[in-house]
Amino acid sequence: MGGRIPREFIDNLVQRVDIVDVINARVALKKAGANYMACCPFHSEKTPSFTVSPSKQFYHCFGCGAHGTAISFLMNYERLEFIDAVKELAREAGVELPRESHTPRQDGVDPAALYELLERCAVYYKRQLREHPERKRAVDYFKGRGVSGTIAAEFELGYAPEGWDHLAAALGRDTHTTQLLVQAGMWILREGKGGYDRFRERVMFPIRDYRGRVVGFGGRVLDDSTPKYLNSPETPVFHKGQELYGLYQARRALNPLPRVLIVEGYMDVVALHQHDVRYAVATLGTAMTPHHLERVLRYCRDVVFCFDGDRAGRQAAWRALENALPYGRDGVRFSFVFLPEGEDPDSLVRRIGATAFNALVDKATPLSTFFFENLSLEADIRSMDGQARMVERARPLLAKLPEGALRLMMLERLAEWVKLDAHVLMPHLAAPATVRHPKPAARSMRGAHHVASPVRRLIALLLQQPALAQQVAQPERFGALSEPGVRLLQQLLEFLNNKPHITLAGILEHWRGSEDYAHLLRIVEEDVLLPAAGLETEFQASVRRLEAWLIEQQVEQLLSKSRYSRLDEQEMVRLKDLLHRQHEQGVLSVEEPTSSKNAYN
Ligand code: UTP
Ligand code: MN
Repeated sequence: MGGRIPREFIDNLVQRVDIVDVINARVALKKAGANYMACCPFHSEKTPSFTVSPSKQFYHCFGCGAHGTAISFLMNYERLEFIDAVKELAREAGVELPRESHTPRQDGVDPAALYELLERCAVYYKRQLREHPERKRAVDYFKGRGVSGTIAAEFELGYAPEGWDHLAAALGRDTHTTQLLVQAGMWILREGKGGYDRFRERVMFPIRDYRGRVVGFGGRVLDDSTPKYLNSPETPVFHKGQELYGLYQARRALNPLPRVLIVEGYMDVVALHQHDVRYAVATLGTAMTPHHLERVLRYCRDVVFCFDGDRAGRQAAWRALENALPYGRDGVRFSFVFLPEGEDPDSLVRRIGATAFNALVDKATPLSTFFFENLSLEADIRSMDGQARMVERARPLLAKLPEGALRLMMLERLAEWVKLDAHVLMPHLAAPATVRHPKPAARSMRGAHHVASPVRRLIALLLQQPALAQQVAQPERFGALSEPGVRLLQQLLEFLNNKPHITLAGILEHWRGSEDYAHLLRIVEEDVLLPAAGLETEFQASVRRLEAWLIEQQVEQLLSKSRYSRLDEQEMVRLKDLLHRQHEQGVLSVEEPTSSKNAYN
C-alpha cells in the first residue's frame, strides 16, 4: 500500500466524515428509526434492504451482504482503490491531504521518480515511431498487422531503435538518472563498467497501471527472432503478476465495465480495442494470478477467460478455473471462451469482426459447465466407481467456493451427475471456504463448560459498542491467556481505551491492511447492526468468563508448581485467594446466559 498517507490521518478522517453524507450524495437515503435505508446500489432490488448506521458509521445490505465503512463504500461504489478512496473522502470533507513525501525510502527507491522516468521513456519511444530515421520498419510492421494510427496513438505504441545507448543519451547520463534507469529495469548494468538499453530494435507497448502510471514495457521483435516479446523485469513499481495490459484503456473507454475478457497477448488487446471490443485486457506473459482476479473484480463482476481451444489451452483454462473458484461469490460470473484451432483473438476479430466476436463472448461457457465437462472427461460416470471418483475430484475444488448461489448450484449439479440427492451428497463435501480467511481461527475450547470463545464474543461486542471497552480495567492482564484472538482483543481494548467516541468504521479503518483486518470483518459480518440492548450484559458476562480463565490458569500454575516444590507463604496466600475467587466465579457463572446451553435444552 506504500503507506504514504499516515495512519493517523486516516483515523482522523474517518472520525470527521459522516457516512450518511457520503452515501446520501450518491444514493438517496431515507431515515428509518435510528438508521437510514435505501434500495441497495450493489444489487438490484425493489424494497430497500440497504441500511446505514450513523452511530456505527457503517453500511450493511441485508439482501446481498455488502457492508463496510465510508471508505469501503467509495471503493465499491466509485470503483476506487483504497488510496484514491481516501483522497476522495478527504476532498469531500474539505480536509487537506498530508503532502506525499518525496524523500527516498529506506531501500533508496523513490517510486515517484521511477514513475516519472518511465513516463519519459514512453514519450521517447513514442517519438521514435514518428521521428527516427529507421521508423519506417516499425511503422510498416504495425501497418502490416493492421494496427490503425488511432489505436496506436491511444495505446501510445512506440519504437525502440537499434543501438545500445539511446535512453541515457535522451534522458541523461548523470548518476541519478542512471540509477533510476537501472531500478526501472530499462538499463542493464554490464559487469565491468557501463551498461546498455534493455529494449533494442523492438516495437514498444507501454504498460500503464490502474491509475494510469507507466510501470513497465513490453517490446516485440519486428521479425522472427527470439525472444519474441521482452517484458520489463519485476521492479519496485512493476509486478507482472498483478498488472493487466489494457485495463487502464478499458476503464477509460467503458465506465462501468460491463464485462472483462482476459486474453494472452499485447497484440490481442490492441486488435480487440481497435475493433471496439473495449473490455479486453491481457496478462503479461504469466499465468493468471489471484492478484489479477482481485484487481479485475474491483471493476467488474463478469469475467470471461479466453483460451485456445487446444489441449494446452484447456489445461490453462482449468488452472484459471482453480484460481477463480475462491472468488465465485454471489454476483460474480466467470466464463470461458475457447477459440477455434489456429486462431488468437487478434486474428479472429480481424476475420469475423466485432459483432460476431461479441456474440462468441456472449455464448461463453459458464464456469460450472466447464467444470463438470472437464471432470466427467476424466472419470467414466456411468460406473459407480467413476461417480465416486468424480465426487472425490470435485470435493476439494467445491470446498474452495465461498458460500452462496454458485456453490449451491454446483453441488446440485454434482448430485445430478452422479445421480444422488444433493442432501445425501452435501455432508460428504467439505465446508465452504472464504477467500480472505482460509484457515478458520476459532478452535474448540478447553473445558466442556466453555461453549463459544468469549474472546471472539468480546471482540464482536466491542465492534458493536466500542464504548464498552471503558469497563475493562488493565486489558494487558489478558495477554497471559493463550487463547486464539487474545492478542487482538488486548490490542482492541487498549486502542479503544482512550477513544470513547470512536465508531465501528474508525476501528475497521485503523486495522485495514493489517493481518487482523479480515478477521475483524468476519466477526462484524456475523452480527451486523445488532440492536444495542442486551449487549452490555453479555459483555460483562464474557469478561467474567475470561477472568475465570485467567484465575484457572494461575491456579493450575501454582498447583503444578506445588507438585515438585513447596510454595512459599506468599504463593500460598495467592493460591487461597485465587481458589476463593474461583469459587465465587463458579457461583456467578450459573447465572451466565451462555452456560445454560447444555445438551438437555
Ligand atoms: P504468443 O506467443 O501467443 O504471441 O504470446 P502473440 O501474442 O500472438 O504475439 P504476436 O501476435 O505474434 O505478436 C502471448 C503473450 O505471451 C507473452 C507476451 O505477453 C505475449 O503477448 N510472451 C510471448 C512473452 O512474454 N515472451 C515471449 O517470448 C513470447
Ligand atoms: Mn498473435
